[in-house]
Amino acid sequence: MKFLVTLAGFMSLASAAPKASNTGFTIVKPGGVDDIIITEDNTLNGTYVGDRAYVKNMAESRAPSIDLELVNNFGGGPLNMYLQGLDQDNRIVFLGPGGTLVYPSSGGSTTPVPITENIAHPMPGRGETLRITVPFAMSSGRIYFCEGELPFFMVIAGGDLDGLVQPDSKNIRDPSSGLNYGFTEFTLTPDGVVWTNLSFVDFVGLIISMHLRSTDGNVQEVIGLPGDSVPGICADLAAQTQRDGKAWASHCVARPDGSPLRVVSPESYKTIDPAAFAGYYEPYVDRVWDRFRNEDLIINTQGPPGDVRCRVSGDLLQCEGDNRGYTKPATEDIWGCNSGPFEILPGDNDVHLPVVPRLCAALYRTTLLLAGGERQPSLGPEAYYTQDPTSHYARVIHERHVDGKGYAFSYDDIYPDGYPDTAGLIASPNPEFLRFIVGGSA
Ligand SMILES: *[C@@H]1O[C@H](CO)[C@@H](O)[C@H](O)[C@H]1NC(C)=O
Ligand SMILES: *[C@@H]1O[C@H](CO)[C@@H](O)[C@H](O)[C@H]1NC(C)=O
Repeated sequence: MKFLVTLAGFMSLASAAPKASNTGFTIVKPGGVDDIIITEDNTLNGTYVGDRAYVKNMAESRAPSIDLELVNNFGGGPLNMYLQGLDQDNRIVFLGPGGTLVYPSSGGSTTPVPITENIAHPMPGRGETLRITVPFAMSSGRIYFCEGELPFFMVIAGGDLDGLVQPDSKNIRDPSSGLNYGFTEFTLTPDGVVWTNLSFVDFVGLIISMHLRSTDGNVQEVIGLPGDSVPGICADLAAQTQRDGKAWASHCVARPDGSPLRVVSPESYKTIDPAAFAGYYEPYVDRVWDRFRNEDLIINTQGPPGDVRCRVSGDLLQCEGDNRGYTKPATEDIWGCNSGPFEILPGDNDVHLPVVPRLCAALYRTTLLLAGGERQPSLGPEAYYTQDPTSHYARVIHERHVDGKGYAFSYDDIYPDGYPDTAGLIASPNPEFLRFIVGGSA
């Protein structure tokens, strides 16, 4: 008995992320409030509304407002929709069902408390549309869809701030981890500009497509991935694990019965298993740094200042006119593009700011050793992810895209002049309506 206890203790230390032995998928272990990990990534902090949540009727919409059409094209169980953001007074607000606005409160609690007010909009059946109006400007908004009920929590954030704790795809013990959900970012500015952003930077889960019509008749669309993409992406990643022995299959997060729920990005997976990809890009970075000791790397900033010449001297990549150089990034810096040499610091100048995204995108997509790779960005999507080591997560997503759109990493909006935009961002200063199709665009 003693032995078993010791063994169990040891195993939970040795392997923070339980794996299904036959597939290598990571198995979720949904927990309770105690299992929530509060980070900058899963919180939205707004002005404290007082010790108690309150619900009010929407009355009429103020300008600006926008009509949303939420189309159910999902083949699984009943869905709920949640819409949250910060109102113009910087307070956290959910659009509740039946024309309500819900202002949640932590009541000052330093441990997360579940939001118990009614914030779920039940989606109508497959093929049907829910229509709602967002009645005022909202920033840092998100529109979530979930098969079943998605839990949200509040926690006091210090100062006069209260924090919304959102579902966390990086924590396999998060209370939401066993649920099938997805979200898009959404903002309506006080002067009526709407934008929405489809992103796979954290994970691919429940599939969402977007369609935005402007009052001048202009239509923008981001279809992204087909409706049942998750099992196929998992199969592609398992095939990659067969080829290179790396933990790509474990980016696939599954229910205890082994059925896939979502695929997390390498940037998210590094929280689940920090050791798995240690040292992965480093040999490639060495070869890149060696190439540009004797040859210029030209980064075109696609706006002033234009072509910037860079060279490696010692171990530092230095670019003309840049306020500081770039040390060799580690793998975890390349996954996130915001740490190590890619961290933006106060005082970074007009050369540094546009070089960072272009340099990180080139490393992430491993285009720097290809013919033409000495000029960035210049090679198109057909060149991305063709040399190992690379992000097979992004490769597989881009191979399965219907229209090539949707960020797979944070600087996926970098592309050479003359190529189609690969970002999943759509925006309009004069929107007529915004449509979200959940479960894949038909
Ligand atoms: C919100 O506040 C909490 C402190 O309670 C902090 O840990 C978290 O990083 C903050 N979130 C953001 C997005 O700044
Ligand atoms: C859209 O999402 C991507 C990925 O999360 C992010 O890097 C980018 O900044 C977002 N765009 C805007 C305008 O917020």
